[in-house]
This record gives sequence, structure tokens and C-alpha cells, in this order.
Amino acid sequence: MKKANKQILIAVTGGISAYKACELVRDLMKKGHAVSVMMTPEATQFVTALTFRTLTNQPVIVDMFDQDLSWDPCHISLAERADLVAVVPATANFIAKLANGLCDDISSCVIMATKAKILIAPAMNDNMYSHPAFKQNLKKIKTFGYQIVSPIKGALACGKTAIGHLATVSEISREIEKLLK
Ligand SMILES: Cc1cc2nc3c(=O)[nH]c(=O)nc-3n(C[C@H](O)[C@H](O)[C@H](O)COP(=O)(O)O)c2cc1C
Repeated sequence: MKKANKQILIAVTGGISAYKACELVRDLMKKGHAVSVMMTPEATQFVTALTFRTLTNQPVIVDMFDQDLSWDPCHISLAERADLVAVVPATANFIAKLANGLCDDISSCVIMATKAKILIAPAMNDNMYSHPAFKQNLKKIKTFGYQIVSPIKGALACGKTAIGHLATVSEISREIEKLLK
């Protein structure tokens, strides 16, 4: 069997554009990468873990304390195995956690524990996006060396068309490929 190009871990957080992570997963797998998914509990309000389980044929970790996982659930082993961790979409809340070193879910723990490259694709309401707290948090995570794929102008969950719409799947995928080179 052909060896997978790279080990990519996608962290899905609780935003309306979480369904687009499904397309991204498929795209990266078509490119020959091994893709696994972890989700915040809030993300499962938008897309099910089963969807990603089926797309990747890999267990999806939501609860890092789950005793029933048949594979090694340790956030450290995930962190060590990944070549790249991409947060798609990244909520304002999750970015605030990253900026402040909070680790209270599997994705934030893995990101703190990994030496892999990190890509963050924020998506949120335009007022959230322009809030000074968010801006400061974004600025701070850039200093950690995290690569940001900025949101674009597009339809938001609130009905407006404004900046805050998740970047296109093809752009995110392209940026992931660039980072992996
Ligand atoms: C319908 C709906 C859509 C939401 N969309 C977003 C979003 O696109 N971006 C965002 O930052 N928060 C969004 N939120 C708020 C987050 O779900 C909330 O902050 C949650 O606590 C994020 O959890 P997480 O960061 O652990 O995934 C949305 C909430 C609801 C109810």
C-alpha cells in the first residue's frame, strides 16, 4: 500500500462553517495525506463525529477522557504523530484559549503539546472578528508561529454579508500544502 504523504490532524471547533471541514478532509485525503479529526464538544452541535469517522475511517476524539477509545487516546501521542494541525473552522472562543494557553479539551491540549506546524482558519460574525479582544488574541497567536488563513467576505450565519466567512476549502488546502513543504 502507498505510504500516506503526511499526517494531518484537523481540529473542528463550534462554528456554523464546521461542515466545510468535511470537504477539507476529503480534499486532503485525495491528495494522499493521512487525516484524523478531533472536535470540541460544541463542534458536534454542527456536524457529527460519525461524519468525520466515516470520511477518515479513523476514530474521532471529542472527549479526551473517553475510556472506550480502542486506540491510544493520549493527546501526547496525537501531538507527536502529526506533521500539521489545522483548526478549521477556528472559533473566537478557541482562539482565545490558544492565546492564553488554556487546555481544557483535546484540541487545545494537542496544540499545546505538539511541535507540528499549526494552521488556524478563523470564521465568525464580523463584529466578533473586529472586536479588540479577538484582534489581540489573533495577534498573540501569530507570535507563536501559527499560520493564519484569514476569513473572507461572505454570507454569515446572522444573515449579513461581511468579513468573517471561512476562507475557501481550496485556499485552506493550498496553505496546508505550502506549510508541509
Ligand atoms: C448557530 C451558531 C453559530 C455559531 N457560529 C460561530 C462561528 O461561526 N464562529 C464563532 O466564533 N462562534 C460561533 N458560535 C459560538 C460558538 O459556538 C461558541 O462560542 C462555542 O462556545 C465555541 O466552542 P468551541 O470554541 O469550544 O468549539 C456559534 C453559535 C451558534 C449557536
